[in-house]
Amino acid sequence: MAQQGFFLTLEGSEGVGKTTNLAFVERYLKAHDKEVVVTREPGGTDLAESIRGVLLAHHQEKVAQDTELLLMFASRAQHIDQVIRPALAEGKVVICSRFTDSTYAYQGGGRGIAHERIAVLEKWCHEDLQPDLTLLFDLPVEVGKQRIDQRAELDRIEQQELDFFQRVRDAYLQRAKGQKRFEIIDASLPLDTVQQHIKDVLSRWVLS
Ligand SMILES: Nc1ncnc2c1ncn2[C@@H]1O[C@H](COP(=O)(O)OP(=O)(O)OP(=O)(O)O)[C@@H](O)[C@H]1O
Ligand SMILES: [Mg+2]
Repeated sequence: MAQQGFFLTLEGSEGVGKTTNLAFVERYLKAHDKEVVVTREPGGTDLAESIRGVLLAHHQEKVAQDTELLLMFASRAQHIDQVIRPALAEGKVVICSRFTDSTYAYQGGGRGIAHERIAVLEKWCHEDLQPDLTLLFDLPVEVGKQRIDQRAELDRIEQQELDFFQRVRDAYLQRAKGQKRFEIIDASLPLDTVQQHIKDVLSRWVLS
């Protein structure tokens, strides 16, 4: 039987520290002799990164909600098939910035698409595949916005209003309730405190 790896996702709204801590998690697990694959969504393969480009670009026409949702899952289907499942089958730790929880938070909470519609696509595209552990970085939306404000240009989703990100945050927290795979990380704390928390979580979940 194929050896099973470990599927770890990092989630949270804009500026919570996913990219910063993705690199930290990678270093920490490699230092503990884990074979890791680091990846992200939308994207993670050449084709899926092309879809990401379309998703985040600014367009003259309005992007219909279902178009956004379906492109997210088109990218995800490719990523699962080409990267995630093969790496897990080889027993690797897959560390992924954003996965389907992001779709529930952004397209569900943020845009208002019904949970049931997303669930249909989730089942279609990944059946029983779920993260083993999800680090949810949580931060007041104003603070996250301030942290990314230095960026030269905001993409199509980053440029949404604060209300949108408040709904995203609420949807994430709602989702984390009652699901054991979530660990909520207080991302408002100084980075070294955040990373100590991450180490504790990884020791319990991945290294034990
Ligand atoms: N705990 C922290 N305290 C203060 N600043 C932080 C902390 N964590 C990250 N930052 C800073 O906040 C900014 C945003 O972090 P980062 O780019 O990692 O967030 P992100 O979640 O990847 O954002 P996005 O969703 O836009 O990709 C960076 O400048 C980073 O250095
Ligand atoms: Mg990032």
